[in-house]
Order: sequence, then structure tokens, then C-alpha cells
Amino acid sequence: MLQREIPWLESSRPAIKPTTISHIISHKTTMNLEQIWIERTTVNEKGNRVPTFWNPTPLSKIEGDTYDGNLMARIVSLGLVMELPVGELVTSQMRRIPGLNVGIVEKVLKSNISDEARHDKGMHYAEEFLTEAGYTVDTSPVHQFLKDTQRLPYHPITLAACLEVTLFLPMLALARMHGGQAFNRWALGINEDEQRHVRVNSSLASALGEPLPTCHQWIPIRDAVIDYLMDRHPDKDLFYRASNELYHTGDSPTLNAIPAVAAVSFMSPFTVTNSEKYARTVS
Ligand SMILES: [Fe+2]
Ligand SMILES: [Fe+2]
Repeated sequence: MLQREIPWLESSRPAIKPTTISHIISHKTTMNLEQIWIERTTVNEKGNRVPTFWNPTPLSKIEGDTYDGNLMARIVSLGLVMELPVGELVTSQMRRIPGLNVGIVEKVLKSNISDEARHDKGMHYAEEFLTEAGYTVDTSPVHQFLKDTQRLPYHPITLAACLEVTLFLPMLALARMHGGQAFNRWALGINEDEQRHVRVNSSLASALGEPLPTCHQWIPIRDAVIDYLMDRHPDKDLFYRASNELYHTGDSPTLNAIPAVAAVSFMSPFTVTNSEKYARTVS
């Protein structure tokens, strides 16, 4: 089990509100998704927009590179267990809610879901790399965490956004800080996808009338993740400070002062406004 208990597990999930297509394809939501679709696509020779994907490849050992293998093993343990279930949260709702299988919503969601399978493959490549280097990736502490998060009283789309913000973005930020060159591109590729997923899922949650949880509700989940990943790590306090800055103000002077961390690694969970930073990475 992860060390810290997450509150509200015993509260029952409220009934999911009935949703109509018109909720989903409100003008504002459609405009948001259109913009996101344009950012992740290119135009082919027939003039059609086709999505671009981060494609995982086996990680290579780099001469003179150093990284925190124990921390990376824990990060990868989280990814191996959590990537596909987060994709399944969205898939389950596409089956259930007709409005999610229409037009731009369907295109964006399908491409996002397929991202999760690529991330999972990337986690397996990272596990192979770490195992080869003599580290053990132990997923056993994470399985109960997955079960616990599935009992959180949020709509599945909201829960997907919640886990992307409280688990994936922090763990990928740590991978960029402590993963050396070997993991830097790996983490950046996945991170860019996760930032987009948060924008999509939070936009859809809003369209579904399922507002995102408050900061007060999200932070214990993030804390459970960071405590598990960092344990007695010397940078734990620094990372908490940086993460709190992001959560409360949307910017982190602490992280901006770390040269190894590009400005794109982090995102405030509620406003989802750092599109400028996001755009820099895809240009
Ligand atoms: Fe993912
Ligand atoms: Fe995601």
C-alpha cells in the first residue's frame, strides 16, 4: 500500500447525472476541443487532419549519464499499474454516453485513449532499462492504490483528470528532475500528452456538469503519490514546495530555477492555463 491514506474513500459515489449530447457539444466545449485537436494533428496530402503520437522506443544507456534508479523504479511502478486503467475510465464513458462518440469529441478522446497504450509500452521499455541496470521495479505497493482511487467519489472523467494531475504530472516532473538524459525525452513525451489529457478531461467534466474537485480534495492524493515516490529523498521538501506553488499560484519559481527541468513539465491543476508553455514544446 502507499503509505498515506486517502480520505473520502468510504463516501459513496454520487449518482452520475444523466447526460445528453447537447451538454457535451456545447459551443465552448467544442471550441476547446477543436483547438486541442489542431495542436496534436498535422494535415496530410489529402488535406485531412491526422493525429501525431509520441511513440515509445527502448531506452538507451548514455555514457556518463546519471539518474536516480530507485526513484525511477517507483515512478515506473506507478505507470505500469495506472496508465491503462486511466484510459479505461475514459473508454468506459465513451461506451456509456452517446455524446462522447460524436465528431470532434470522439476524435480527441480516441486519440487520447490510444496515448495511454503508448505510455504503457513506454513504461515497459523503462522497466526493461532499469532491470538491465540492476534495479527492481516492484508494482505490488501500487495495486491497492489503484483500487483506492477507483473508490473515490468522482465521475470517471473527473477521476481521469484528477489522476493525471495528482499522479502523472508530478511523477513525470520528478523523472525529468532525477532521470538523467536517459529518461528526459521519455518523460517529456508522456508529459506533453498528459497535459493535453487534463485539458480535455477537465473540459468534458465541466460540460458534463461534474466540476473538478477542489484543491483541498486533490492534494492528499498528490501527497500519497509523492510520499511513496520520494520516501526519505533529500529533495522531497523542495518538490513539495514547488508543487504547492503550482497548485496555489499556477507557477513555480522553485522549479523554474532548476536548469534540468524545462518550463513545460508542470501544470496548475485547476486553471489549465499554461498553454503558452505547452505550445513551446510542440513547435
Ligand atoms: Fe498516460
Ligand atoms: Fe492521460
